[in-house]
Amino acid sequence: MNTNPRILVAPSLLAADFARLGEEARAVEAAGADWLHLDIMDGHFVPNITFGPLVIKALKRHTGLPMDAHLMIAPADPYIAAFAEAGADHISVHPEAGPHLHRTLQLIRSLGKKPGVVLNPATPVAAIENVMDLVDIIMVMSVNPGFGGQAFIGSQLAKIAELRRMITATGREIILQVDGGITPATAPAVLAAGADCLIAGTAVFGAPDYTEAIAALRPGSR
Ligand code: DX5
Ligand code: ZN
Repeated sequence: MNTNPRILVAPSLLAADFARLGEEARAVEAAGADWLHLDIMDGHFVPNITFGPLVIKALKRHTGLPMDAHLMIAPADPYIAAFAEAGADHISVHPEAGPHLHRTLQLIRSLGKKPGVVLNPATPVAAIENVMDLVDIIMVMSVNPGFGGQAFIGSQLAKIAELRRMITATGREIILQVDGGITPATAPAVLAAGADCLIAGTAVFGAPDYTEAIAALRPGSR
């Protein structure tokens, strides 16, 4: 189990109305979101294209929520300074996006941002064993990255539990996020496995009432 008394909910803007992003960001902030999750896709690392630093910069005028940038781009290193300058507070990268994960995490930290690592469904926990001292966030993908609205991959629950044990062993406060297919039906098992931050696109922006949708993901809501 996680030891965090408060579960964080980070709505993923990928499922928002892209013609009204500022309004959508304000709406989830008012609805009780903790972070705003921003999916950056390049059409190369993942088979979809979204938005870049300029959109994050524009969103900063609409919300005070911490900006949780999930980079699905390769290479990532040449763009990290731009995301930091645009106002991303957390910058998470996939180990497969470049040859020097340790250096990438050092770069993010040197820019005053919280570094994170994202593990694809097929990526083993060993990919981050030797950088645990450099991460503030670990994100488990419970779908293959690129699209919202996919089904939760149940085999990731064991990975979440293993990562929780690894985090506890460090004695450091590392947030364990889970991204993909999070709904009121899948969230309890994810939290029981030890996650402390739920990322949800469709389950929040696809719902008629964002406040109810966010509340429905928190523990004890059902
Ligand atoms: C997928 C993204 C997710 C996505 C989740 O590549 O990383 O953040 O928005 O969408 P849902 O919650 O609909 O599975
Ligand atoms: Zn994401």
